[in-house]
Amino acid sequence: MAAKSKILVTGGMGYIGSHTVVELINKGFDVYIIDNLSNSRNEVIDSIEKITGVCPVFKNIDLNDKPAVNDFLRKYPIDAIIHFAAYKSVNDSVNQPLSYYRNNLVSLLNLLELCIDYNIMHFVFSSSCSVYGQPDRLPIDEFAEVKKAESPYANTKKIGEDILFDFSKTAGGMKIISLRYFNPVGGHPSALIGEYPLGAPQNLFPVITQTAIGKRQGMKVFGNDYDTPDGSCIRDYIHVMDIAAAHVVAIERMLNGKSKSTYELFNLGTGNGLSVLEIIYAFERITGVKLNYEIVGRREGDVVKIYADTDYANKELGWKAVRTLDDMITSAWAWEKVLNNESVSKI
Ligand code: WQD
Repeated sequence: MAAKSKILVTGGMGYIGSHTVVELINKGFDVYIIDNLSNSRNEVIDSIEKITGVCPVFKNIDLNDKPAVNDFLRKYPIDAIIHFAAYKSVNDSVNQPLSYYRNNLVSLLNLLELCIDYNIMHFVFSSSCSVYGQPDRLPIDEFAEVKKAESPYANTKKIGEDILFDFSKTAGGMKIISLRYFNPVGGHPSALIGEYPLGAPQNLFPVITQTAIGKRQGMKVFGNDYDTPDGSCIRDYIHVMDIAAAHVVAIERMLNGKSKSTYELFNLGTGNGLSVLEIIYAFERITGVKLNYEIVGRREGDVVKIYADTDYANKELGWKAVRTLDDMITSAWAWEKVLNNESVSKI
């Protein structure tokens, strides 16, 4: 039997990272995790083992500590890297731009230099639809103009893509794929892993589920005077398990020699745009829980509407999102109830 390919998942204890680790293990890959737990919990490794029956190697290392990463790669020969580890709060990035640029870019540069040293020839980069800013046309495809980033966070993703594109031309045939996520939501069907916001969440889905469970008295809808059918902003919400599946497809594409060039990029969306109010109404319908929300003013930096053109990812990458809005809401709600039971049991 062919040796299992060894995949390093940086940030593999985080939200999208942990769901991707589960999918990689289920597909027979040998998975290794580097994570500094700055936005995740140590217990995630137990949940991954409960779901898959496998406990991947996990080392609590900061990617800015290049000697430590070097020691790790000397000990564990790796075939491919999926790089999730990065700070990801839009708000925090506006208030602490230097820590965002340093953390997100230095960690990427460290990894790429070590890929050369250890002859790691396959690299998947966690990027974001936020590189598009407010698109001029919708649905937005991968070849659309990348606009001025709305936040330092989004700019670290844009600069990251530029670094990878330039590097790919000199990296001796190394294959690189950037994946631009739209709005990842929901959790694993087991409700053993999900989105675990440390501190008060800013993203819509955890705000909704925390409001529904009573962790928050109410929630705010940031604006209903936009140029959209019901006045609230439109996004392309996509189940985190569909995002995870896409990473496995991208790794297989590269390892099986199917890459068409040394640098490729794909949108990870459903192609369906839904408004904030549509999500709220769907949540109430699906769960039967009434949400206490108030319409307030617009949130600085919000894009009015964005949703993906999925043709290229469907046809070229050979991946398509399959989970429904019902799956997204049901799994997000199940996970919130697990988190709530945990916090109740800790009292
Ligand atoms: C969605 C909509 C808010 C909270 C996220 C990530 C970003 C990137 C893209 C990965 C907006 C509205 C929200 C609330 C609200 N993902 N909202 N009340 O802004 O699209 O960005 O996805 O790279 O990193 O942050 O997602 O969930 O914050 O907001 O009305 O309490 O919900 O105004 O219109 P966003 P979001």
